[in-house]
Amino acid sequence: MPKFDITIAGEVNLDLILYGLPDELPPERELLADRMMLTLGGSSSILAHNLAALGSRVGFQSRIGDDDLGASALLPLQKIGVDISQLRRVPGPIKTGLTVVLQRAAWRNMVTYSGTIAELTWEDLDFSYLGNSRHFHVSSFYLQRALRPRIPELFRKMKEAGLTTSLDTNDDPDDTWEGGLREALRYVDVFLPNEREAQKAAEVDDLETAIRKLADLVPLVVVKMGRQGAAAQRGKERFTSPAIKVEAVDPVGAGDSFDAGFLHNFVRGADLTACLHAGNLAGAFSTTQPGGTEAFRDTRRREQFFREHS
Ligand SMILES: Nc1ncnc2c1ncn2[C@@H]1O[C@H](COP(=O)(O)OP(=O)(O)O)[C@@H](O)[C@H]1O
Ligand SMILES: [Mg+2]
Repeated sequence: MPKFDITIAGEVNLDLILYGLPDELPPERELLADRMMLTLGGSSSILAHNLAALGSRVGFQSRIGDDDLGASALLPLQKIGVDISQLRRVPGPIKTGLTVVLQRAAWRNMVTYSGTIAELTWEDLDFSYLGNSRHFHVSSFYLQRALRPRIPELFRKMKEAGLTTSLDTNDDPDDTWEGGLREALRYVDVFLPNEREAQKAAEVDDLETAIRKLADLVPLVVVKMGRQGAAAQRGKERFTSPAIKVEAVDPVGAGDSFDAGFLHNFVRGADLTACLHAGNLAGAFSTTQPGGTEAFRDTRRREQFFREHS
């Protein structure tokens, strides 16, 4: 029996979320936010945290700086039970990554200092550790600047070791959608883009065509569609699942939380409809508190929310 249900190689960073700012930010003015939250961010770290909260055994390889932000990111991961024994803390001028989110009522700006996110390398990885699992996942393909050229090889290695694999690219800051994505998808079992990312990755501008094109490349495409819920395509088969209605505080980490709900069930062999519903539950639950992981720290509230909406 492998040690982990899911191993993840990826980034740890923090999210600083500011609420209540005006849409326009005039230069040289002192602007006041009415609320803030400094919380665990990073697609990989949010996924790792929320998978562990759901009860998965999670092994996580990453790099952080030897700084206060890095230390504060480790605490919630450790507390919720993510194995961080292989996570490297590297001193030097490059600091733990930080994303500043300027959350408005219906949209947000996001500014990321990549820091150590872009520093994770092939040499940092322990393949026997990552391979000692049922499933392997990579998030934030385009932020992993040092690792990215070898991500296809990494997926290939994990497939050869008998694991199933998944990828959530998240956005490409350069908006080119190149850099070996097609090559990586050859070794991916579950591809988890949102609507925009699906179209970008497929190089088309309508979602239907994108889903069909992607389904020719990977066994299972799962598209996250915000308030529309989610859809999955497996060969010619289509599955859909509506979103859960909630009062959302912010959508930060909703996609990563969806991944957690989906993958937690996927590795346990649940059917696709159940996986999609679990993804929607986790995504919606994440929006009920600031950031991507705050909601998941309250186990009783989560269990109640999941019960009420199942
Ligand atoms: N306002 C919302 N109400 C209910 N569920 C939501 C809401 N926003 C997101 N979700 C859930 O979270 C999932 C991921 O959100 P989405 O915005 O599509 O992805 P991403 O965060 O990757 O852009 C959705 O598929 C849905 O299940
Ligand atoms: Mg996402």
